[in-house]
Amino acid sequence: MPGAQPARSTPAEGMKREAGYHAAEMVEDGMVIGLGTGSTTWFAMERLSVLIEEGLRIQGVPTSYQTELRARVLRIPLTTLDAYPELDMAIDGADQVDPAMRLIKGRGAALTREKCVAAAAAELVIVVDGSKCVPVLSGPVPVEVIPFALQPVILGIRAIGGHPELRNGIQKDGPVITDNGNFILDCSFPEISEPERLEGILSLMPGVLSCGLFCEFVEKTVVVVGREEGCRTLNH
Ligand code: 5RP
Repeated sequence: MPGAQPARSTPAEGMKREAGYHAAEMVEDGMVIGLGTGSTTWFAMERLSVLIEEGLRIQGVPTSYQTELRARVLRIPLTTLDAYPELDMAIDGADQVDPAMRLIKGRGAALTREKCVAAAAAELVIVVDGSKCVPVLSGPVPVEVIPFALQPVILGIRAIGGHPELRNGIQKDGPVITDNGNFILDCSFPEISEPERLEGILSLMPGVLSCGLFCEFVEKTVVVVGREEGCRTLNH
């Protein structure tokens, strides 16, 4: 519409854009990269799309249907983990990041594929706005569970002091069904003092596909924190 004002982005969106664009600039010609899920990764993909238009040659492995559909619109060439079981880099968001760069992920229910891609990548670039950086991980931990084992897993999580809640759909009655056909339990814990230990316990429960604690990738993680005054990069 002539004269219409472009939609203003919020300060948080601006910081996500900063982080996403910065991560996109870290991608080198010829790389095969994991493409995470969520709003901050979307900004990285938006910038990658422009760089591809300018000549950058990359391929991406999407971690969700959302990312796959967006990548197609943005003309980012896609491939699979089958074709490239080892990736040069993965770019992804997070719900919480602690000072040791351990993460909670899975608000978008894409945690299992995100963990596969993170494990396959030589470098994991996490893009966040400052609100995601916390002194101690505390958020609910998403757990992807196969429907067959829902009740035993609920009992198992309660037995270790957790409070699991089945995630329900929005604009869909009943539970969220992940891209892998499973349920999500959002599990609150009074405290997460030993995230590695909790990740191990949750991951070993029969019927659990994966949990949203990402503790084993810290050595290869770079966290890009979008801020009004520019990005701050954290690594080992
Ligand atoms: C999806 C995720 C996202 O990466 C995480 O929720 C961050 O999303 P956003 O960048 O939109 O805040 O783990 O499963």
